Amino acid sequence: MDMEKLVALCRRKGFIFGSSEIYGGLNGFWDYGPLGVELKNNIKAAWWHDMVRNPPLGPDGNEIAMVGVDCSIIMNPKVWEASGHVGGFSDPMADCKACKNRFRADQLLACKYTNVSQQEFPGTSFVIFGFGSPEQIFEANSAKIRKIEKAHPGKWEGPGWISFNKMSTEERALFECPNCGEKGTLTEPRAFNLMFQTYVGAVKSDENIAYLRPETAQGIFVNFKNVVDSSRLKLPFGIAQIGKAFRNEINPRNYTFRSREFEQMEIEFFCRPDESMKWYEYWRDVRKGWYTKLGIKSDKLRPREQGKEELAHYSIGTTDIEYLFPFSDEPQELEGVAHRGDYDLKQHQTHSGKDMTYFEQELWAKADKSAYKGDKKLEQEAKSKLPYRYLPHVIEPSAGADRFTLAVLCEAYCEDKVPNDKGDPEERVVMKFHPRLAPIKAAILPLVNKEGMPDKALALYRELKQDFVVEYDDGGAIGRRYRRQDEAGTPYCFTIDGDTLKDDTVTIRDRDSLQQRRIKMSSVAEELRKLLRPS
Ligand code: GAP
Repeated sequence: MDMEKLVALCRRKGFIFGSSEIYGGLNGFWDYGPLGVELKNNIKAAWWHDMVRNPPLGPDGNEIAMVGVDCSIIMNPKVWEASGHVGGFSDPMADCKACKNRFRADQLLACKYTNVSQQEFPGTSFVIFGFGSPEQIFEANSAKIRKIEKAHPGKWEGPGWISFNKMSTEERALFECPNCGEKGTLTEPRAFNLMFQTYVGAVKSDENIAYLRPETAQGIFVNFKNVVDSSRLKLPFGIAQIGKAFRNEINPRNYTFRSREFEQMEIEFFCRPDESMKWYEYWRDVRKGWYTKLGIKSDKLRPREQGKEELAHYSIGTTDIEYLFPFSDEPQELEGVAHRGDYDLKQHQTHSGKDMTYFEQELWAKADKSAYKGDKKLEQEAKSKLPYRYLPHVIEPSAGADRFTLAVLCEAYCEDKVPNDKGDPEERVVMKFHPRLAPIKAAILPLVNKEGMPDKALALYRELKQDFVVEYDDGGAIGRRYRRQDEAGTPYCFTIDGDTLKDDTVTIRDRDSLQQRRIKMSSVAEELRKLLRPS
């Protein structure tokens, strides 16, 4: 699938626009148009419905408890000190002193051809420099590589990549800036914090510094006690949140894949430490299953357990659920399911001085206390530790609403041939969205604009729009109208024709199979409801 075609369709049909386009846009920021906002809202609603209101049964076949929160984007900056984002949420960056471009140092790569470089390029062992993945750098340098291969046939030993991060100062002095090509102009790598900073109140002083949240997760952690104290929830349970997050990404790229403003759908699932692995496996499987349920083909989906060296400082284990986007040869992260242990609650307990432990009230009430023989101190000691009081462990399935929207768009895009009004084959572009996610659920089309058909069609449209996003379209030949709905991904079209006037039936056309059948006009709403119901 050609990414450029998808981007053009998204613009043309009103799924996604560049942010503030009339002023030249802003790198890393995007706007959703009329179809895009419906699609993304459906994705968020499906997540909320399937994970919060009606989550799958737990590993033991019991109901699991899930609730939601909606926290502020700007929080007390101490939250980000405790979470480690102020000190550590950074990528080492190198700046070019000549062209002023900034690069992530781990993505600045040089390539050594150990056995040929000294002859061909005396004075340096590097021959290829670039920014990005090895494949991208190879592609950009293909002419140079061909030259080396021609000059040294049979001597090929393959490249040895080294990142700017790991080079010695002498080696860095030989590096050519991937933008301007100047040698030795890149600074030593420096930490660059990804959080957007702002000031709260009128005075721009250090005491008033605040941050736009880089993840929704911390809002959940700092409210853990509030939720426990204000509800009758018992462990294990999950708290969910959908909301905006902001990261001053150095290299926003691949359309909306890596943006500077994006939305997350996060769950923090709190459980007993000795049950945490069971819940980690549960959420990993549930989350992968959710994507396939919504139409992502399983051969494009890959759950990948992160290696020890990749794990974030807080994580005991993480599985990335990856999707094979058309812009990359390797699957890319849609969601991370992380076992965070008690890291976050412990950090907030230490930094805030507030007790974040959970007390197993019922377990303690039932406990045999005879072993303490009335010794209050001994009893208090037993009460204050496992299995009665402890910091819960946390499993975090953290998904990106924009990333999944992009995956859904990529997966839906399809070109095929269908018969036109005269029965001849005609090319069509069709967005094969899962019906639950489709921005418009049905179109209501009068076959012709006369003989009372528009009146019937409008009556049906007015009935359906009470409950569904539907579109009324009476413009142009019926075939053209079908093509328009196919491009918008509308799964069903109801056509009002001559027979409708006689027997009050309409045709229902299926976007993917193109099959048409007649149903009673009075049963259209019920039929649509059935077709859209989550399975
Ligand atoms: N609380 C954990 C956390 O934020 P993350 O892996 O940094 O973990 C979770 O982010 C998800 O958020 C990612 O899997 C991705 O879907 C989405 N995400 C992260 N950075 C993003 C960006 N710059 N643009 C779009 N989505 C992003």
